[in-house]
This record gives sequence, C-alpha cells and structure tokens, in this order.
Amino acid sequence: MASSVRVCNPRFARGRTWVAEVGIAPESGGKFVRRMSTPSDNGWSTSAGAWLRLMEQGDPNRVLLLDEVMLGLCGEVRDRDVLDVGCGEGRFCRMLGARGARTVGVDPTVEFIAEARRQQPGGTFLAAGGEALPLADASMDLVVSYVALVDIPDFRAAIREMARVVRPGGRCVIANLNGFSTATTHFWARDEDNNKRHWTMDNYMVERPGRAEWAGISIVNWHRPLSAYVQAFLGAGLRLEHFDEPMPTPAVKAKHPKMQDFHRIPHFCTMVWRAPARPPAA
Ligand SMILES: C[S@@+](CC[C@H](N)C(=O)[O-])C[C@H]1O[C@@H](n2cnc3c(N)ncnc32)[C@H](O)[C@@H]1O
Repeated sequence: MASSVRVCNPRFARGRTWVAEVGIAPESGGKFVRRMSTPSDNGWSTSAGAWLRLMEQGDPNRVLLLDEVMLGLCGEVRDRDVLDVGCGEGRFCRMLGARGARTVGVDPTVEFIAEARRQQPGGTFLAAGGEALPLADASMDLVVSYVALVDIPDFRAAIREMARVVRPGGRCVIANLNGFSTATTHFWARDEDNNKRHWTMDNYMVERPGRAEWAGISIVNWHRPLSAYVQAFLGAGLRLEHFDEPMPTPAVKAKHPKMQDFHRIPHFCTMVWRAPARPPAA
C-alpha cells in the first residue's frame, strides 16, 4: 500500500470512532484498493463478545425499526427453505424459524456460529463466507441478508452466490447500510452548542474499508455507493421488486425521540430482488 489516509475525530464521534482507511496501491495504476487480505482480520472474532452483549440488550435499529420491516418483506415463510447470509449469532434465523421456516445461517465468524448452535440446537448454521456458499444451486426459496453486505469484502461474489442458490422465482430480501452512512467522515457536524448541524460525508463513489467502533465492538466494514450494490444484483440476473429507506413508526418516534434522526439520515435501505422464473438461456 503506497499511501493511506486515516480520518479520525473522536470529538465528533461521541463514543463511536470512525477510522477510514483508504489506500492507493502503485500496482493498481492509482486505483483505490481494499486493505484487508482475508475476511478473518475484520475484527468480528475479537468483537464477538461485545456484539453478543449488544444483541442481548437489544439493538434499537433492529428492535425498533428493521425487524418488523424485514419480517414483512420475507412474507409467509412456513415450510420454506430460507438462507441468512451473514447470520451473526442466528437471531433472524430464530425469528424466521419461529414462523415455520427451515433456516440455514451462514457466517464466517466461528464464535457466532457456535453461539447460534447453542441457542438453537438442531438449527443449521455453517461457518463460511458469503463469497463461497456451501450450498447447492437453486436450493433456497428465500435468501436474506440482514445488514451484512457492508461486512462482506467481496460483496459482488456474495451477490452472485445468492443468485446461484436461490430457486427460480425465489427472492433475496436485503437490509443494508446506506452509502451516505458509510461514507461519513465525522458523523454529525455540530455547532458550538453541540447541536447536530448536518451529516458529513465525502468520496461517496470511492469503495473503501473503514473501521467502526461502538459499544466495545471494533470491526472493519466497507463503504460502497448504492450503484455498486444495485449493479451487482442486476449483473447477477436479479430483478428489483422493492426499494425503501425505512422510517420508524410515529409510535416508536414518540417513545424514542432519537429515532427522529432517521428523517435526517435514513441509515438503512431495504431491497427485494427476484430471480427469474427460469434461469436465462446460456
Ligand atoms: C452487522 S453483523 C449482522 C449480523 C446479523 N445479520 C444480524 O443482523 O444480527 C455483520 C455480520 O457479517 C458477518 N460477516 C463478515 N464477513 C462476512 C463474509 N465474508 N460473509 C458473510 N458474512 C460476513 C460478520 O461475521 C457478522 O456476523
């Protein structure tokens, strides 16, 4: 790596430090490249304990916003084969399993797979990266990825894999962090009274890894523009059926005023991608 830029301003981060690491390799002809060599050095293993504690307490983004939206998008799952790519400790698999789905959870972080198996003995949880799913072609009715694409180094390979394992006519239901959320430089710019003025971001079109630290978790995930994700799904032969930037309900906002911020920055998007009824002729 010839050069790198580190951006870190804990004053603005308020307990959550963001370090953007962007490198330019001479051999790439000046193109930005990813810094990490393997998915195992992304910090998820060492952060597993802190993540499990956060999940136990209940992550507000999930509990107050995304769970209901994602369950609604999944629809009727009884007796369906459902894969969760980047399943973590199996939380969403358990939620879908309680609705009658036959679930398979895949995640490369072995600590999460062990915890998932502990919490759901007999559940199917496989230690693997999304880039090489240990599953047969066209074996799943539904593929879910719940805020995990940002964590997958080769997200294009993972999306091709989702398209490979989903049955003709099946769907991929995705929640992901929005690009302007991952392109932030200092989170909120604040005035002298510490009021939030506006969200900061830069280099939106530059794909890059960045370190995120909060609640004792320290991981590397990835910024990519929305177009990169959309083009990867289109390139895998899937068709977009739904796109949204989910908002908390009025009841949630009334009870949890911090959730009002989603009107200023909707951190997440949801998408549903459908596989063609029959794979296109080769
Ligand atoms: C933000 S967590 C989300 C976990 C879970 N989907 C949830 O909502 O609770 C991101 C997950 O992506 C996983 N991950 C990291 N690299 C991955 C890869 N190459 N393929 C699939 N998942 C990966 C991490 O181990 C972690 O469990």
